[in-house]
Amino acid sequence: MTNNNIYFVANWKMFGSVKSVNSLNKVISYSNTMKLKANIIYCPPYTLIKSFVDKTKKSNIKIGAQDCHTQINYGPFTGAISSKMIKDLGGKFVIIGHSETRAENDNKKINLKIKSALKEKLNVILCIGEKLIDKRKNKTKYVLKKQILEGLKNLKNLNKIVIAYEPVWSIGTGIIPSENDLKKNIRFIRNTLKISKKFTKSKILYGGSVNLKNIKNLMRIDNIDGFLIGGASTNEKIFIDIMKKSIN
Ligand code: 13P
Repeated sequence: MTNNNIYFVANWKMFGSVKSVNSLNKVISYSNTMKLKANIIYCPPYTLIKSFVDKTKKSNIKIGAQDCHTQINYGPFTGAISSKMIKDLGGKFVIIGHSETRAENDNKKINLKIKSALKEKLNVILCIGEKLIDKRKNKTKYVLKKQILEGLKNLKNLNKIVIAYEPVWSIGTGIIPSENDLKKNIRFIRNTLKISKKFTKSKILYGGSVNLKNIKNLMRIDNIDGFLIGGASTNEKIFIDIMKKSIN
């Protein structure tokens, strides 16, 4: 992997309290001393976006949300958050299509969410990945292709879209794909994007049980542009050590 401009995205899921903002101190200091340019992005729960934005204002760290509504502005949608609101809070990114939200989101809805985020000039992290049953039935490529083509339908400019390949069976399980499978699937995703010509420069991240033990091996896989990290990103020391191991 070429590690200039590498992505480290921290997806905090439904974790964190008001005090969690203090756990950014060391990460901010570390990011200021980094020799290489890296993209460090925190996606905390909605409740913490504003405090994370304020805290990281003078650093290179960017903040994002974990989902958004299909509607850009405002509307009568109880419990929902729009791209406009994320932008208003100072968020720069939004994760869309995470497998933990896909029960309520088909590819069509994901496509609308991406369009709403792009209208607000947010950067999108589109998550794709096969379930264990797909893998067992040899349907991984079919699923990935469908998620890419339907999720990105009618989009011309993918400059602001990063793809995160997260095999669902790898999330939170401690199990990661074999080096060979990961290489193969990342290559397949890249080729699928290339076929449509507009998407040749897309960044592709890997997510699913990234930790201190496997990061060195994952770094050996060329063609990955960074990582989407869940559990391990909520501990600042571990998160920093993962970044250190990736970069040095
Ligand atoms: P874990 O790193 O906890 O497996 O979560 C991965 C993930 O879902 C990130 O979006």
